[in-house]
Amino acid sequence: MSLPEKGMVRDELFANMRDRKAADAKWREGKTFSLIYPTGREDVDEVLMEASDLYLYENALNPFRFPSLEKMERDVVEMTGGLVNLPAAGGGTMASGGSESILMSVLVNRDRARNERGVQHGNIVYPTSAHAAFAKAAHYLELEARPIPITDTLIADVDAMADAVDDNTVLMMGSAYGYPHGVMDPIEDLSNIALERGIGFHSDTCIGAFVLPFLERLGYDIPPFDFRLPGVTQMSADVHKYGYAVKGASVVLHRNKDWIWNQIFVYTDWPSGLYGTPTVAGARPAGPIAAAWAVMNYLGMEGYLGLMRVLMDTTEILRDGIQSIPELRIMGDPIGALLTFTSDTIDTYAVCDLMDDRGWNLDRNTNPNGLHMMISPLHAEYADQFLADLRWAVKNHGDSRGVEARYN
Ligand SMILES: Cc1ncc(COP(=O)(O)O)c(C=O)c1O
Repeated sequence: MSLPEKGMVRDELFANMRDRKAADAKWREGKTFSLIYPTGREDVDEVLMEASDLYLYENALNPFRFPSLEKMERDVVEMTGGLVNLPAAGGGTMASGGSESILMSVLVNRDRARNERGVQHGNIVYPTSAHAAFAKAAHYLELEARPIPITDTLIADVDAMADAVDDNTVLMMGSAYGYPHGVMDPIEDLSNIALERGIGFHSDTCIGAFVLPFLERLGYDIPPFDFRLPGVTQMSADVHKYGYAVKGASVVLHRNKDWIWNQIFVYTDWPSGLYGTPTVAGARPAGPIAAAWAVMNYLGMEGYLGLMRVLMDTTEILRDGIQSIPELRIMGDPIGALLTFTSDTIDTYAVCDLMDDRGWNLDRNTNPNGLHMMISPLHAEYADQFLADLRWAVKNHGDSRGVEARYN
């Protein structure tokens, strides 16, 4: 497309855009199980839109120009820290998403190891189930990535991870809980090893930070996963997942707020004066910060607990429904609102092809194969329809059409 000579009229413009959108995932109809985490509540959507709109044009690059933004960012960090028991000496910043929070945590640990222990060629040790953001951070920051195979129960292998740690290890991590199967890594054991070895430990709660604290309050038995464990040095928490903010809102937390200086880039040799940023971006959208602040204050503890009840009831309905299909089984022991299922007798990808035909967007896991679902409160309305279609797809599946058919 080249830039049009004359601008389009507004009606034509939006008609064009709506046409283009027609082929996108039907998330408002509950068809999508990752990427978007809708509450299904119009009032929450309205709060997000109004807050984003209020800060549509502002730029979070310069906190001196927009002190309201700086204060909101600090509030979001503090509220999130409160959920995961960040000590008084701790601190953090917002980031554009989980990947950027993780990148900042790895950067801080790389530079601390370099400055305090003289580590020049560092490595990070993580289970293969860790989010790809850890491999990406290692790649960007020129660290050696050491992915360690997970156990048969799909959790991090504590002994194998301990064996992989050496004098050049700058960071270990575990997921609470992980994206591929929704299972909790043994955060306590892993973080104790890191503590003994004097290295950083990142508890990745990009999903869990806005799930596990509420489940604890609702009386669920949740193994320790946060700063109450003395070995946990960093955590990541995505407000744009189960915090229900719009995309572009995550928090990275450090046990000691002084470590944030390793995250901040400051440059003084520039004709435009002092330049400093806490994350990768320069100019930074203000809308996601405002939306995160707004939704957290709008929902409050009571609102999150209410949504959590809906979320877990829906997860139970889906789990029971999937387990009642003899060909299928849930993988591992998922703790929250995430289910991955597979089959020992039929081709799950062939089932997924038929689900695709009915508009459902399940993610295909590999090694081992499985179908992956991040459940949202919106799915409460659609669980029965999903299970009916899943039963139909299991009964009628043929052969998998293969990757190419999926993307054509
Ligand atoms: C456990 C975990 N960590 C990190 C991330 C990366 O987050 P983002 O996609 O916001 O960069 C995700 C995303 O799903 C995740 O589930």
